[in-house]
Amino acid sequence: MSRLVPLLAVLILAIIVSWGWFRTPAPAAASPAPASPPPAVEPVFVEYTTGPASPDGIGKFFHGREISQVMGHRGIDWLERSNREQEEAPSRAIAAIDLAPDAVLADIGAGSGYYSFRLAEKVPKGKIIAVDIEPKMLEFLRARSAELGVTNVEPHLGSIEDVKLPAASLDAALMVDAYHEFSHPREMLASLRHALKPGGRIFLLEFRGEDPKVPIKPLHKMTEAQARLELESAGFRFVSNLRPLPWQHFMIFERP
Ligand SMILES: C[S@@+](CC[C@H](N)C(=O)[O-])C[C@H]1O[C@@H](n2cnc3c(N)ncnc32)[C@H](O)[C@@H]1O
Repeated sequence: MSRLVPLLAVLILAIIVSWGWFRTPAPAAASPAPASPPPAVEPVFVEYTTGPASPDGIGKFFHGREISQVMGHRGIDWLERSNREQEEAPSRAIAAIDLAPDAVLADIGAGSGYYSFRLAEKVPKGKIIAVDIEPKMLEFLRARSAELGVTNVEPHLGSIEDVKLPAASLDAALMVDAYHEFSHPREMLASLRHALKPGGRIFLLEFRGEDPKVPIKPLHKMTEAQARLELESAGFRFVSNLRPLPWQHFMIFERP
């Protein structure tokens, strides 16, 4: 019996060792693969084409879409019409545009500033740069700023092919019913890509071209497919098309 005790002890020790110390440790639970950044989107150069002009168009085409005529300052009354909320529900679009309090957003083709002034409340420590090419629109914006006592809406004169803003100076850009009338969309998008910070977003609102019930002239509407074709070719990533609005697409793109 006395000889059995050390033998048993050796046996027990051998079992512990073979089970514990020399056992290959179980592989650690696989950690999720690090999210790889989405591939960069590089702009593609696309030539404009020309053709006979439609009554509302300029006879210049981008990705097969005829560019519409510019509205001009005589459209201010229409932009500021009292039933705009009822027809287009801009308050829903404004609610869906999330901005940090210190964000800088360019409202490109701001017109009378219908959106700019409403968005200004969201960025008390930032600003809205209200860009337009029409000096009369900028005069209206200045007068409206003074009337409302708003200090963070900055009227800014762009050109037909350049937003004229410094590199990586914008957190976001908004274009409401304006992009379809840019006479030089390719150059405008390139200048916007330059002005947006990486990760900066574009909120693109256009009347829905797919929907015959939207009572707007065809050249002043766009389909989602067309908008995606144009902006993705210009080096932006499509994020989503929210559907909070009765007449318009509410598309979000991102600068990679
Ligand atoms: C239909 S209005 C829309 C105004 C405003 N976004 C709104 O929804 O109340 C379009 C505006 O885009 C402006 N516009 C046209 N081409 C432009 C360009 N290349 N750069 C900046 N603004 C432009 C026009 O002058 C006009 O004021």
